[in-house]
Amino acid sequence: MLRRLSQDQPDSFAFTPANLEWARAQITKYPEGRQASAIIPLLWRAQEQEGWLTRPAIEYVAEMLGMEYIRALEVATFYFMFQLQPVGSIAHVQVCGTLSCMICGAEDLIAVCRDKIAAEPHALSPDGKFSWEEVECLGACSNAPMVQIGKDYYEDLTTEKFAWLLDELAAGRVPTPGPQNGRYVSEPEGGLTSLAEYEAGRDPLNASARLATDIGDTVKRIDGTEVPLLTPWGKQSGCAEAAEAAPVAAEKAEHCGSPAAEVAEAEPERLSAPRAGRAADDLKKITGVGPKLEALLNEMGFYHYDQIAAWGPAEIAWVDARLTFKGRIERDDWVAQATELAGN
Ligand code: FES
Repeated sequence: MLRRLSQDQPDSFAFTPANLEWARAQITKYPEGRQASAIIPLLWRAQEQEGWLTRPAIEYVAEMLGMEYIRALEVATFYFMFQLQPVGSIAHVQVCGTLSCMICGAEDLIAVCRDKIAAEPHALSPDGKFSWEEVECLGACSNAPMVQIGKDYYEDLTTEKFAWLLDELAAGRVPTPGPQNGRYVSEPEGGLTSLAEYEAGRDPLNASARLATDIGDTVKRIDGTEVPLLTPWGKQSGCAEAAEAAPVAAEKAEHCGSPAAEVAEAEPERLSAPRAGRAADDLKKITGVGPKLEALLNEMGFYHYDQIAAWGPAEIAWVDARLTFKGRIERDDWVAQATELAGN
C-alpha cells in the first residue's frame, strides 16, 4: 500500500514541555550512538500530541535523534500505526481486510465506513470526527471480523454492531473493547470445551478488555498529563516538578535530561595527555563507554579512572553538558565503576 505524507502540512512542530521531558528520558535508554533506537516511541508521542504524524514532526524527531530525515521518514511510512494524514478528532478506525476477516465480513464493515464516515479511506467524515482505512492482519484472526479503534480491538463484529460502535463513540461514549458477540476471548462460540472449571468466578471481562477499560485510553490521546512513564533512573516521578523544587531536588531533576534541570557545573581535573610514565586507562571498561565515547573523553582531557572517580555532581554536570547523549554518566554510574577500576 502506498503511504505518502499529506499534501497539507503545518509549518512547524515542537513537543510540549511534558512530552519533551518524556522524550529525552526515552533517549537515555539507549547506548551512546544508538539513540536512533528511540525513533518509534518518539514518533508515536509526536502522533499522540498532534493526532497524526506531520512532516515537521518527523523532521523534529529526526533532528532530536541525530538522524537523517529520510531514515525517520522510512520508519514513519513503514508502520501502519503512524498516520500520515489528518485523522478524525474522535477516532481513526482501522478495518482488518486480510483473509480471515475478509471471509467473515470485512467488506461489509468497510461498507459501513464508507456509509457512516467517508467514501474513501483517509478522508475525514463531514463532521471531522472519524476517519478510516483498511489494514493488513491485526493478529486477532480468531475473532474475525475485527477493527482497531484508537488503541483497542473490537472483535466478532457484525455490520449492526459496528455501526452501533461508531454511534456510541460519536455520542462521547467508549464501548468496551474485545469480542462483541458475547465471547469471552476466542473460545468456541458454543462455549468452553476445556478448562471449563475456570469459568466460574472469573472477571466478566478478559484481561485485555479489563486493562483497556481500566486505563480508559481507547480513543484518548496521551497528552503529557499522565503519571510520567519515565526511565527508572528518572525516579519515575515528575522531573519538571523536581526542577522547580528546592535545590536538593535539582540532582534528581537532572536525571531526566530536562532543560529546566539546572545543576551548577564545575570543571573537573583535566589533562592534556596521560600522566607521565603511564598509558591511558581503558575507559571502555566502564559500562556505557564505547570507542567513540572514550575518544571524546580523551579529547576532553580524561584518561584515567581516578579522574572520573573524583567527579561529584557538579563535575558530572560539566561533562554531561558536553556529551550529546545526556544522563548516561549517572545512569551507568560511571563514578562507582571508575572508583572500582581505579582500585584494581
Ligand atoms: S485476518 Fe483480520 S485479524 Fe487477522
